[in-house]
Formats: sequence, structure tokens, C-alpha cells
Amino acid sequence: MAPIAISWGIIPLFAVGLTYMRYLSVDPESHPVSTRSVQPEYDFVIVGGGSAGAVLANRLSEIRDWNVLLLEAGGYENEVSDVPALAGFLQLSDMDWKYKTMPPRNRAYCQAMIGDRCNWPRGKVLGGSSVLNAMVYVRGNKRDYDNWAQMGNPGWSFEEVLPYFKKSEDNRNPYLAKTKYHSTGGYLTVQEAPWRSPLVAAFVSGGEDMGYHNRDINGANQTGFMIVQGTIRRGSRCSTSKAFLRPVRLRRNLDIALHSEVGKVLIRNEPKTGRPQAYGVEFMRNGAKHTVRARREVIMSAGAINSPQILMLSGIGPREHLEEFKIPVVADLKVGHNLQDHVGLGGLTFLVDQPVSFKTSRFQNVPVFLDYVINERGPLTMMGIEGIAFLNSKYANASEDWPDIQFHFAPSSINSDNGVQIRRIVGIRDRVYNTMYKPLGSAETWTILPLLLRPKSTGWVRLKSTNPSDHPQIEPNYFAYPEDVATLVEGVKLAVNLSSTPSFQQFGSRLHTIPMPGCSKYQFPSDEYWECAFRHFTFTMYHPAGTCKMGPASDPSAVVDARLKVHGVDRLRVIDASIMPQIISGNPNAPTIMIGEKASDMIKEDWGKLPSKS
Ligand SMILES: Cc1cc2nc3c(=O)[nH]c(=O)nc-3n(C[C@H](O)[C@H](O)[C@H](O)COP(=O)(O)OP(=O)(O)OC[C@H]3O[C@@H](n4cnc5c(N)ncnc54)[C@H](O)[C@@H]3O)c2cc1C
Ligand SMILES: *[C@@H]1O[C@H](CO)[C@@H](O)[C@H](O)[C@H]1NC(C)=O
Ligand SMILES: *[C@@H]1O[C@H](CO)[C@@H](O)[C@H](O)[C@H]1NC(C)=O
Ligand SMILES: *[C@@H]1O[C@H](CO)[C@@H](O)[C@H](O)[C@H]1NC(C)=O
Repeated sequence: MAPIAISWGIIPLFAVGLTYMRYLSVDPESHPVSTRSVQPEYDFVIVGGGSAGAVLANRLSEIRDWNVLLLEAGGYENEVSDVPALAGFLQLSDMDWKYKTMPPRNRAYCQAMIGDRCNWPRGKVLGGSSVLNAMVYVRGNKRDYDNWAQMGNPGWSFEEVLPYFKKSEDNRNPYLAKTKYHSTGGYLTVQEAPWRSPLVAAFVSGGEDMGYHNRDINGANQTGFMIVQGTIRRGSRCSTSKAFLRPVRLRRNLDIALHSEVGKVLIRNEPKTGRPQAYGVEFMRNGAKHTVRARREVIMSAGAINSPQILMLSGIGPREHLEEFKIPVVADLKVGHNLQDHVGLGGLTFLVDQPVSFKTSRFQNVPVFLDYVINERGPLTMMGIEGIAFLNSKYANASEDWPDIQFHFAPSSINSDNGVQIRRIVGIRDRVYNTMYKPLGSAETWTILPLLLRPKSTGWVRLKSTNPSDHPQIEPNYFAYPEDVATLVEGVKLAVNLSSTPSFQQFGSRLHTIPMPGCSKYQFPSDEYWECAFRHFTFTMYHPAGTCKMGPASDPSAVVDARLKVHGVDRLRVIDASIMPQIISGNPNAPTIMIGEKASDMIKEDWGKLPSKS
């Protein structure tokens, strides 16, 4: 518990005790036990137990005569990570890799943040970023997957991936479970939060006022507004560790080694073919270096920042970049390129006249904690984000169901916790906080985070050194294309319009008008002002992807093929969010779980354990 104690100031101690009691008593499945001694060799070695890695560990160990090792750099999730409303407290804790973006040239983004650097949290814990995330369950647009297939990736069309979304799913909302887009009985529990703020109804009906449908945005059509579906179970977070690893913790052919940090993949030339082949990995555990061999395959599931880092340290990456560090080149591939993320305007705040927002002062009390602990209900089950929407800016073709803007709605804003935690995890400069948000005091506020669904601008992950424990350099390169700027400006204006709908006017909703320090030279609220605002309060939705792009060998930017095998290196796959050739139009957790499910079947097919489908 010690590592997160710093941030516990605002959580009353009795509440911690109660949630801990609940945590121990209600989940019949306890944590998997971290193996004491790693064997010298396994059939499969999986690096990283996050959204994809946890799925793989489960599905590959279904084959009784395979043994599987899952190596995870972090430890266990805990009673705080279990409470949806406390998700923000995990960032900058020991469960977070605590990455930051590099200060951009020309101060093009993140100007409101200390050092011009935005925080990029990533889960360092069993369950990975699914333990830190906002639990939003979204699959993306059908066309995303059809495009992947068209880019030379057979098997990845929407029609072909839909069964793998459904395979994991246990949807607890009957109105959805019975449709052909959803299913029940899978490992991953999906449902609405049991508690709602009064404002989320205004969000959905405000969307209708604007001409959008209230619909299942994971169903037949994506464009529209919806109360969010989340990866939650009985009011608590359902991480991939809880969903996929706890139920199989007694399998004797699955070893899980925590606090085990992989530094590189071991690669040799296969004597007969002369081709490079992965045969194991090197990792640090308890301060000592270990190696483990893989009889069949090494699988990289370390996420969109760490998978490219480890590959580059192993000699798989752009030649010039590796040579800078005198790393012998095994395969010259565009690892770390094509970094894509969802970026938007943070801190866009609206005020209302009624006591309806989500404020710590309102919900930090005994009845609220008891309601959570005893009834699995109440405000603590709230995921932060209550509503989502997919909209068309004037640049999208509204008759195509190919929206270009996403809204995340929260019945709170930067001021709602009185500057205790949100301000800290965003890394916002004091001047900005004190000028814009402090004057709000404990006003009733709500937010829309408007973001670009398919940014044109792509960035990089590069090595900083050959030391695996040095953070790689992250350059998201946001807003490099004028189209991205123009589209996001329209997205912000759509959000402002939502506040003017009759549904929000019932609450007297209005835009917070104190301008961003540094932007007051622009008329408020002009297009130029909004551009300035998001170049300051640049907000990552925490969705990095694309850094080990999937594509055919003929594509010079591809790192893995459609079976997720690294081009030019045998017995090595990458299976996580980094393989997305183009970021999906939505939140990537469910898609990454789908990638894990689909890849598990491909591995079984390739080793003759399933009839081949392709
Ligand atoms: C704050 C936050 C909020 C988010 N909100 C949402 C949301 O609401 N909905 C949504 O869909 N998505 C959300 N996301 C994104 C989503 O969670 C990620 O896209 C998804 O979890 C990525 O899965 P992954 O398997 O690629 O990587 P991860 O889940 O990050 O897993 C990588 C794992 O590898 C481990 N690892 C890394 N390096 C090493 C090493 N060297 N050795 C051993 N292990 C290693 C890590 O510790 C981690 O456990 C959010 C993310 C964050 C951080
Ligand atoms: C769904 O989108 C398609 C276009 O992809 C469109 O033809 C259809 O009319 C839409 N359906 C509804 C119910 O809006
Ligand atoms: C919008 O999409 C529809 C359906 O695909 C198409 O018929 C129409 O020409 C498009 N409009 C524009 C302006 O591109
Ligand atoms: C916002 O609403 C105004 C007034 O109805 C309208 O003129 C404008 O086009 C809308 N903006 C966007 C981005 O839809």
C-alpha cells in the first residue's frame, strides 16, 4: 500500500478499510500467485500482462500440452484500483510507468503543462493499462477494420473480428446482450455503471436536440450518443487481470512472474535457414538478470511504448537509429514510427446552476462509501466518463457513418476535486490552474473532452539510451497537419453547442469564460482562440497505438504481418495496441482485447491446434 499513500490524503481512512474488506470478501477468485522460480524453458514466453497479454496467457494455456510463461514488470492491482471513481489516483503511483512526452519544437502542444510535457500514464501492473484506464468499452467503427484488411491484412475485416469481440464479452445489460453485436458468458464483464448523475440524461437528450440518435455506438451504426458501457463487474473495475487471469490461476501449465522486467529478446541465426529466430528473453527480477528460453515463440505484449522499446534494444528497428546506439541490426524495420493517439482539448468547462455535478466534497462521506461496499452501488461506481458520443464535424460526410469527432462527457471538471489530484496527474502549470480553474471554487461544472478520431499527424517512440530502464523518448507530434487543427476546432464548437441545447439549458448551462493564459490575445471564443487553447491544454485520451504497424512485407512501414509475426524474424510476434496500422475510431481497450483473442487463435492454427481458417 505504501507506494500510493501519497495520494490517499483525500480518501478517508475508514473508506480505505471498508473497500479493502469488500475487496477481500466479494471476489471469489483471488489473485494468481506469482511464480517463485521461473523454469529454464517454456513453449511460449509472453512479455507483458496487460490488455492483450492477459488474454494470451489465458487462451494459450488452454492447450494442456503447452506451457506458458507470462512476464510482467509490475505487481498486483489492489483495493484502490478496484473502485471506478478512484481511477485518477493510480496515475503517478507505482502502478504507472510515468511517461512524459518530449517538449515539442515550436511549443506546438502541451504548453499549459509543466515543462511543456504531457503525462502519458501506462499501466505497470498485472492487467496493464486496463487497471489504470477509465473502463470505457468501445469497439471503434466497422470501417476501421475493413480498412485494416484493405491495407493488406487478410482476416481483419469487421465481419472477421466481430466474433472475437463477442468471444470475450459478458454483457450484463439485457437490452444490448440480446442484439447480434453483443454476447454473454465471456470472461470480460461489460455493463453500465449502476449510478448516474442527473446530467448524463441531459447529455444524451442534448445529442438528440442536435439531431443525433441515442444508440448503441458499438452496434449497427456508430454515429450517436450513449450512456457509456464499461468494463466493470458488480460496481468494481473488471481489469484483464481480473477477467482473464484470476479464473485460470490454478492452471499448472501457466506461470506468471511479477516484478520481472524484460530488457531484450534473444535472437540467433537458425543454423539451417540462416534466418534470425527468437529463442528467449532476458529479464531482471529481484535485482538479478535472468534468461528464459522459448521452445516455440516469444510474444511481445508490452504495449505501444514498451514493445517498440524492447524490440529496438534487441536489434529490431530503424537501421540509422540503432546504429546511433551501436546496436547490431537484426532487422531494419520502422519500429516506433506511426505513433498515433487520440488528442483533444482538456479542461473545456461548463457551469450549471443546480447541485448535480460530481464533486469530491459531495461524495466523500460515510453513506456513499457504505453504499459502495455493501450494495455495490452509488457514486463510487462511476467511471469518471458517463457519456460518449460520435459526431460529424463539417469535414465529415454525415451520410457515411464515419464520424471524425468523439466526445467524452464527465459531470465534473478540473476544479471538482479542489485541485487535489486531477491537476497533479495532468501536470498543469500553477499559473493556468490558478487563473482558470481556481476561481471556480466548488462551482457545479461539467466537461466535454472533444477529440480527433483519426488524426493525420503521427509521431515516434525512440530510444534514449541502451539502458532498458531509461524511458524511451515519446514525441506524439500532435497537430502537425492543419487538417487536424481545423477538425478539432470544429469539434470544440460542437461541444459548445451541446451546452446550448434545451436539455442543458434546463440546468442553466453556460461556458466557463476565463480565457487560457497565453491565449488572451485571441478573441474569445474564436477559432484562433480554440486552436491556441488546445495547443496549451493538450489532452491525450491515453490511446497510443501503431508503433509496430501490421502490414504486408511490401509495405516499407510494416513491422508485423497479418499474423502478427515480425517481418524477417522467426518465432517472434507483437500482439498489443502497437500493431494497429491505423488507430481505431474509439477507445482501444476492447479492440486490444480482441487482438489478443484473435491472435491466440492464429497461434493455435499455426501450431496445428485448431483447424486453419485462412
Ligand atoms: C489513464 C488511462 C485511461 C484509459 N482509458 C481508456 C478507456 O476508458 N477505454 C479504453 O478502451 N481504453 C482506455 N485506455 C487505453 C487502454 O487501456 C490501452 O489502450 C490498452 O490497455 C493497451 O493494451 P496493451 O495490451 O497494448 O498494453 P498494456 O495494457 O499497457 O500492457 C502492457 C503490459 O506490459 C508490461 N510491460 C511493459 N514493459 C515490460 C517489460 N519490459 N517487461 C515486462 N513487462 C512489461 C506493462 O507493465 C503492462 O502490464 C486508457 C489508458 C490509460 C493509461
Ligand atoms: C447506418 O449507416 C449506414 C452507412 O454506413 C447507413 O446506410 C444507414 O442508413 C445507417 N443506419 C441508421 C439506422 O442510421
Ligand atoms: C457522402 O457519402 C455518400 C454515401 O457514400 C455519397 O453518396 C456522397 O456522394 C458523399 N458526399 C460527399 C460530399 O462526398
Ligand atoms: C453551432 O450552433 C450554431 C447556431 O445554431 C450554428 O450556426 C453552428 O453551425 C453550430 N456549430 C457547429 C460546429 O455545428
